[in-house]
Formats: sequence, C-alpha cells, structure tokens
Amino acid sequence: MKAAVIYESMYGNTRSVAEAIAEGLEPAAESEVLSVEEAQSTDLSRVDLLVVGGPTHIHGMSRKPLRDAALKDALEHPEKGLQTDAAAGGTGLRESFDAMKTGTGKAAAFDTRLQGPEMLTGHASKSIAKQLGQHGCELVAKPVSFIVGKDNRLLPEERDRAREWGTRVGRDPRRRAVPHILIDS
Ligand SMILES: Cc1cc2nc3c(=O)[nH]c(=O)nc-3n(C[C@H](O)[C@H](O)[C@H](O)COP(=O)(O)O)c2cc1C
Repeated sequence: MKAAVIYESMYGNTRSVAEAIAEGLEPAAESEVLSVEEAQSTDLSRVDLLVVGGPTHIHGMSRKPLRDAALKDALEHPEKGLQTDAAAGGTGLRESFDAMKTGTGKAAAFDTRLQGPEMLTGHASKSIAKQLGQHGCELVAKPVSFIVGKDNRLLPEERDRAREWGTRVGRDPRRRAVPHILIDS
C-alpha cells in the first residue's frame, strides 16, 4: 500500500505529527511526507491512503492573514522561541485542495491545536475531513487532534500518540469507513 501524509505547518508541530504518523503507517504502507506545496506537484491519484493535517487557527483551518500573523509573531517576538517551519511561507490547505489531485481513495484528517476543551479551541481536522469527502475521498478514521501546550510546543506524549494513530489507520483502512454523519456533526 502507498500512503502520503500531507501537512501544513507554521511552527513545525504539524510537520512533526505528520512524520510520526508516517512512521506509524510504515508497517502497512510505503509512506511519504509532503508539504502542501509539494503535494500540489505530486500525483496523488496513485496513493491508496491520504492523511492530511494542519494547524487549528481561529477554530478552523488557517487563512492567509492568520498565517501572516503567525509568521510576524515569530519574527517580532524572538523571546517566544517560535521556530518557523521551512514550509511556513507556502500556501495553506484551505486554498490548495482544488489544486491537489487527491484522487478518490481512502483518507483521514488530523490537526494540531491548543490544550483545552474542544468547544473552546475548535479544531481544523473536521473541516479538512469535510474537504477530503467533498473531493471524493472515503474517510476511514474520525478526525483527530494532537495537542500543543501554551508555549506552542507539542505535548511530550503526542508524537507517540500520532505514531500509534498512524498504525491503527494503516492496519486495515477498509474496516474503518466512517459515516459522514460522524464527520459533519
Ligand atoms: C493565528 C493563530 C490562531 C490560532 N487559533 C487557535 C485556535 O482557535 N484554537 C486552537 O486550539 N489553537 C489555535 N492556535 C494555535 C495553533 O493551533 C498552534 O499554534 C498550532 O497547532 C501549531 O501548529 P504548527 O506548529 O504546525 O503551526 C492558533 C495559532 C495561531 C498562530
């Protein structure tokens, strides 16, 4: 099985989660990790399982002004120690879905978000899952969040959780088809 894990990331946390998911998928799938930019120039129609994730910005998927604000924050406040990801200046998932030839295979969505009740933080993964569904993919797992602390760094256990989630999703995606009602709610 071939898998691609596509990520958007400003500070590297979502990229780190994407890499851990790809490690988890490894026993079941030959996986590649792609930034949104890279994904646009990759033929994804030959991929059996697509896993797509991004950071949560204002309760949902990022937008250009929010990404610009995130970059500005990192530049203007070095005391926060925010490292910008190599892919941070590129386009976001929201603007790129149409340009990414996602194919109609199996897919799953994830995000990173702040610690706290989901009702307060929101989560990008449900919107990502919705986009995947609208582009013809079959969702095989419920959208999932991985958590960063107030300092914008992944909580220590999250990489392991991402690896385990990747393994579960890759094990037998056919048995995991998720009704759209669970994703849209
Ligand atoms: C402009 C902006 C808005 C954000 N809004 C939210 C939010 O509404 N809910 C939340 O849980 N986290 C929010 N965050 C925190 C991000 O989710 C967190 O920085 C992100 O998961 C880190 O991923 P990255 O390192 O891959 O960019 C926001 C961050 C930024 C920069």
